[in-house]
Amino acid sequence: MTPVTEAIPAVKLSERINRIEPSATMAVVAEADKLRQQGIDVVDFGAGEPHFSTPQHIKDAAILAIQNNFSKYTAVGGTPELRDAIVHRHAVDFDSDYRREEAVASVGGKHALFNAIQVLVDHGDEVILPVPYWVSFKDIVRYAGGNCVLLETDEAQGFRVTAEMVSRLVTPRTKLIILNSPSNPSGAVMSAEDLRQVVRFAAEHGIWVISDECYVYLNYRGSAFSIGSLREYRERMVIIGSLSKTYAMTGWRLGYALAPAQVASAIQKLQSQSTSNPTSIVQKAAVAALKGPQECVENMRQEYIQLRDHVVNELRSIPGIKCTVPEGAFYAYPNVSSFFEHSGIGSASDLAGRLLREAHVATVPGEGFGTSDHIRVSYATSVRELDRGLERMRKFLAAL
Ligand SMILES: Cc1ncc(COP(=O)(O)O)c(C=O)c1O
Repeated sequence: MTPVTEAIPAVKLSERINRIEPSATMAVVAEADKLRQQGIDVVDFGAGEPHFSTPQHIKDAAILAIQNNFSKYTAVGGTPELRDAIVHRHAVDFDSDYRREEAVASVGGKHALFNAIQVLVDHGDEVILPVPYWVSFKDIVRYAGGNCVLLETDEAQGFRVTAEMVSRLVTPRTKLIILNSPSNPSGAVMSAEDLRQVVRFAAEHGIWVISDECYVYLNYRGSAFSIGSLREYRERMVIIGSLSKTYAMTGWRLGYALAPAQVASAIQKLQSQSTSNPTSIVQKAAVAALKGPQECVENMRQEYIQLRDHVVNELRSIPGIKCTVPEGAFYAYPNVSSFFEHSGIGSASDLAGRLLREAHVATVPGEGFGTSDHIRVSYATSVRELDRGLERMRKFLAAL
């Protein structure tokens, strides 16, 4: 008998899930992994994570938690001990005044951000997003049913965002502004004064501010600044924090939100219907990170500054590349538009694709961050790896 081949009907997925795209940075990681599986030596400037190991005292706290059988469910938003540690660290470092019930621990900063946006944004609400933006902001807003209103910035002005620029985009539907300083991908740092003006403007117009401060400690411009110190505007602010970059704990998955009690409680309600608490033993490690010695944070910051200086000097010495000096985080965001129209390269995506396939250097094209003239180069790696990758880039670009 001839087998009957039936067409498999397309699965009808929800309208909600069809509104979003997979993360552009994750796509690069997947493609680089594929090449590696074929035995190709790829230099990875794509990953957004520290090359450092998690400090020993943090690892020890997790091991102890396992040995002590700290393995049961905890309160949804984290143990009181962890929530107090989050609030304490933030108050000491940034002069904020949050209480335990205003702090919620989640499974990474991205989870905390996702929760906060779902809780605040309704269908048709407008969310102002400075460009370039971190990839996930746009999709998380869309998933919530919101519309992103892009705030274009000027590279020549260091991608500066001011209250005046924000004011031009406000409509009666504006619900929220998302700030991210230091920024992924540009490394731009907003001055304390610009932050104050934007937060004040928002508060005066009944607009919420979510401040993604995942890189707050990786600030090379001056002393680290959190909008948490602007206590008078706290009723319209949500601060997103993360241990991922600060303590080199990306895989552990621990982030948090600091928000007015009503919002914090709504976030916990949502989390109670999804992940419940972050992993119990990770919570113990997080307490050790937040309450323990902080020298590790400063040591990593100093090393990032040296890596930043090195990568920017080297990138600027490649003919055709322009690169602003990033003042925080661990990304350089060089402008590569002068190579477009050479050898069939029409965009940053084309360039990043060919860099990966032909020179075996992984970078992330700017399109995922809302600009088409740049590629993102993560310099959270050793000088040796940086030099290997930059040399490949130099040769590849020279041959175009
Ligand atoms: C701007 C920004 N926010 C949030 C996150 C999420 O970090 P995590 O979920 O690891 O805390 C990242 C990670 O790359 C980021 O770059």
